[in-house]
Amino acid sequence: MNRAEAFLLEFHRRHPGCTRIAFSAGASLETGESSYELLSSLANQDSVLDIGCGDGHLLSLLAKRPNHRHPVGVDFSPDELAAARQRHADLIVAQAKAQSLPFAPCTFSLAVSHFAFHLMANLHVVVDELARVLTPTGRFAAIIGGGPKLGDTFESFLELLSERRRDDTRVPSIGERRGRTEEGLVELFTSHKGFRNELQISDHYIDFGGTFDEVWTRLSTVYDLAYVSAEETLDLREAFRASVANEHASHIPCTMAIRRVIAHRARDT
Ligand SMILES: C[S@@+](CC[C@H](N)C(=O)[O-])C[C@H]1O[C@@H](n2cnc3c(N)ncnc32)[C@H](O)[C@@H]1O
Repeated sequence: MNRAEAFLLEFHRRHPGCTRIAFSAGASLETGESSYELLSSLANQDSVLDIGCGDGHLLSLLAKRPNHRHPVGVDFSPDELAAARQRHADLIVAQAKAQSLPFAPCTFSLAVSHFAFHLMANLHVVVDELARVLTPTGRFAAIIGGGPKLGDTFESFLELLSERRRDDTRVPSIGERRGRTEEGLVELFTSHKGFRNELQISDHYIDFGGTFDEVWTRLSTVYDLAYVSAEETLDLREAFRASVANEHASHIPCTMAIRRVIAHRARDT
């Protein structure tokens, strides 16, 4: 296990469900869907695998789709999986790494990953595994997190956080750069013989804003706060409050750029 994986395991042990807390109420400025719905809406009578399923929010949406076949989730965090089982007793989840999926070839017609693919190491191995477990007409769809929308509170928060970040921060660099960039994603999938030579990419802004307290709770889930002391966190909260134009507004916009990527299996391999 590398340092980033050890960090992720420890962070998700302390904060299971953090991604659902941050993004389940978010809405795309383009379509109104949450980032989870941008994936669940793709499922249509598919057998679905969710990799890095966390506490199962996406699986629970998939299980509500008409004609759904029971979706399956994997995650390497036992604490996220325990939370998933507690929240949704009927979900099928297993502890596994995306780099070594415990399924037979051609098991799923759709694999999804919400805010998890770009955190993974050895992405070429993950792509090998996706090609193996997907059917020859299968698809992989991921939501990849990006930066803030310029000019709103998410940008101010990140600026205030970076001013306070010390050089000795212990948060390691997580995932591979090619999991976050368009060129990297295109290279990963289109150079793989198991996938078609084209990717469908759409960019969205997700507003996960709300009241000041809701925004603060959602922003408190970022990995970069892991080693910030309670005192420094309070200082950051007050500086952030001062930066918000109207802290009593019922909806303070807080907006992240995200990317939805869809890769199609190549039929003839
Ligand atoms: C940001 S969270 C997203 C959780 C969930 N998909 C959601 O959006 O609610 C990332 C998740 O990916 C999992 N993860 C990271 N790398 C993994 C890997 N290589 N194999 C399996 N799970 C992994 C983490 O344990 C964590 O639960």
